[in-house]
Parts: sequence; structure tokens; C-alpha cells
Amino acid sequence: MNNKRVFFTGGSGKAGKHVIPYLLGKGYRVLNVDLKPLDYPGVDNLIADITDSGQMFNAMSSYAGLDELEYGNGVPQFDAVVHFAAVPRILINPDNETFRVNTVGTYNVIEAAVKLGIKKVIIASSETTYGICFSDGKTDPKSLPLEEDYDVDPMDSYGLSKVVNEQTARAFQRRSGVDMYALRIGNVIEPHEYEALFPHYFKNPEVRRRNAFCYIDARDLGQIVDLCIKKDGLGYQVFNAGNDHNGAILPNKMLLERFFPGVPVTRDLEENEALFSNRKIREVLGFKEQHNWRNYVKGE
Ligand SMILES: NC(=O)c1ccc[n+]([C@@H]2O[C@H](COP(=O)([O-])OP(=O)(O)OC[C@H]3O[C@@H](n4cnc5c(N)ncnc54)[C@H](O)[C@@H]3O)[C@@H](O)[C@H]2O)c1
Repeated sequence: MNNKRVFFTGGSGKAGKHVIPYLLGKGYRVLNVDLKPLDYPGVDNLIADITDSGQMFNAMSSYAGLDELEYGNGVPQFDAVVHFAAVPRILINPDNETFRVNTVGTYNVIEAAVKLGIKKVIIASSETTYGICFSDGKTDPKSLPLEEDYDVDPMDSYGLSKVVNEQTARAFQRRSGVDMYALRIGNVIEPHEYEALFPHYFKNPEVRRRNAFCYIDARDLGQIVDLCIKKDGLGYQVFNAGNDHNGAILPNKMLLERFFPGVPVTRDLEENEALFSNRKIREVLGFKEQHNWRNYVKGE
């Protein structure tokens, strides 16, 4: 157990509603800051808009719940900010609105965290930064596997907003020294989605080419966030947040031949090792996958 206080934005969404329970299970106190509340026992909710800087400064310097009034020591400091709130892809809002909410919102959250002296900031970036997911037409990556030192070059407003957000985190880290970790989150899969989606993916593997066949179990994403909160002193870091294997039944040899012919492969790959590589979270953070898709759906 621990008594760390976590300021979590966007926790009512697809990913957050699994990551917050994981963090609560590890003993964190979590304040979910979102436009709508998360109905889950033990989480505190505050309705606030990330695009409003005043609201972010105010919320981040507030009590998490009424019980915190009892100590009589004033408002406690948050130990970490986990920033997930966003427009989560293109074609929900007009492109300029996606870009505005994601970049201005992230700037506001990071600036408030740094200026209020919070020592750890974790932001949700995205696999789409690699520039395949929302590209016009079928584009090839420059190389595979996709690793964190790749020269990211998306052509869409959402992917671009996430590249900008990584740079925002980097700039604030350089100036403040505060640890800032950007998670390039893969395609998030909730527990019920294995059965609902994966058989279709296996029959039609081409539908997963744009994701380079990646997935991240929403609960394993919780583990990654927990590890990031616990791991101090790394400065600015980018981490791919994905599971160990491709979300595909075809082995890498066949996936590469069929879907990425001619794309340079920069190192030896295991038979099913994720083309959206999670090597860095395993080696640097000690990530140990708990929810491989094979636990939930037959690979046939
Ligand atoms: N779902 C995926 O597959 C995936 C993949 C890569 C990256 N991501 C990123 O992970 C994060 C979480 O994604 P998700 O799938 O849970 O998205 P989601 O849309 O389900 O949840 C996002 C949450 O942010 C909140 N929000 C939106 N605008 C806000 C604002 N102005 N102020 C406060 N809250 C606001 C929404 O109410 C929602 O609850 C996002 O940053 C997304 O870009 C998601």
C-alpha cells in the first residue's frame, strides 16, 4: 500500500476506467479530473476542463475529497499527474479542435504541475505518432520494429497533437528537471473486447496493419502507469506502451512478407514479438505482461 495522491485527467474514458481501478488497487488516492465523473468506488471526481489553464491550476492545488479537510494541515500536494484527457482520435471533432484540445490541454496540465511543484508527470501519447495509423493511403514505416528512437512523422491532426505534446513535456522537463514520461499507448483493449474483436482481426488481419498489429490490455496499461509513478529520476522519457506480442495469429515472418514487404527490419524478432516494440518498458520499468490475448481468445 502507499498513500500517494494522483491527479488523473480523463479517467472516465476507455483507458482510464481500467487504469484508475488498477491504481486504487495499489493503494493510491486518485482524483479523476474529467468533463464527466467516473462511477467507481473509491475514486474522487472533479469536473474540470483541461483547456482552461485556471481550472487546471486550481484543481491541482485543491483537496481531493472532503475527508482531507479533517487533517487541518491545508491542501496536500499531489505526488503525480497522469494526463489522459484528450480527443482520442481524428474524425470525432474537426481537425483543428482535436489539435487545440490536445495541445492546449496538455500544455495547461504540464505547466500547472511544474509550477505547483509536482514531481512526476505521465502523459498519454500514442502509437499514431509513428505515422501509419491515420495516414492518407497505405504508408510504410521507415523501419520495424517501431521503437522509441524512431523519427515520428504523422500526417494527421491527432498524431501531430501527440508529437507536439511530447515536445511540450520535453521542454518543461528540461527547464524544471521534473520527471516527464510520455506513453505512446498502443490500441487499448478492454477485457470484454478480446472476444468481441479479435476473431474478426484474425480473419481479416489487414484491418490491423495501420496499428502495426499492436494492442495494450487496459489493465496492463495500469501496471505501466504504476511503474512510471514508482520509477524516479529518468528525466524526459518516451515509452511505447504495448503488450509483448502482436495482436495477430500470423507469425512475424508472414506479417512482414504480407503487409510490410521491403520495410527494413532492424533487429532479430521472436516469432510473435510485437512489431510495436515494448522492449523499453520491460527493460527500463520492469514491465511484466499479465494479460496476453491468448488468455482470452483462441488463436484460430
Ligand atoms: N484508446 C486507445 O486505443 C488509445 C491509443 C493511444 C492513445 N490513447 C490516448 O490515451 C488517452 C485515453 O484514451 P481513451 O481511449 O480512454 O479516450 P476516451 O475518449 O475514452 O477518454 C478521454 C477522456 O477525456 C475526457 N476529456 C476530453 N476532453 C476533455 C477536456 N477538455 N477536459 C477534461 N476532460 C476531457 C473525456 O470526457 C473522456 O472521459 C487519450 O489521451 C488518448 O489520446 C488512446
